[in-house]
Amino acid sequence: MAASLLHCARRASVSKIRYVFRVCFFSSDTHPIPEPKIAAKHPFKVDLEAGKRYSWCACGHSMKQPFCDGTHKKQAPGLSPVRFTLDEAKTVWLCGCKRTQNAPYCDGTHKSDLVQSNESGLP
Ligand code: FES
Repeated sequence: MAASLLHCARRASVSKIRYVFRVCFFSSDTHPIPEPKIAAKHPFKVDLEAGKRYSWCACGHSMKQPFCDGTHKKQAPGLSPVRFTLDEAKTVWLCGCKRTQNAPYCDGTHKSDLVQSNESGLP
């Protein structure tokens, strides 16, 4: 598990360490976590405000994509949203496939066959 943690930590910025730790820790055999649902096969373009706290859905089950509606508590225990705040208002692309390595932002992973050939999620 330590090697897995290091592998994951190397791929994340400091602001993402908490998210990576949660995913890696619960990925062990003793704490299996559910695979996030592919909520959409595309990112969501959203206008965000400065200073407001947002919660990006990491489990894919929220009905308020790309934001959390609390569904993870019943549908995906072990996964929790990524909370973030912006210093300035801006338009961003938030991940809808829940496979990004740069949560909560889209990193292009949704273009992969793994995501595009999946039966679930919005087209
Ligand atoms: S929508 Fe998930 S990486 Fe683009």
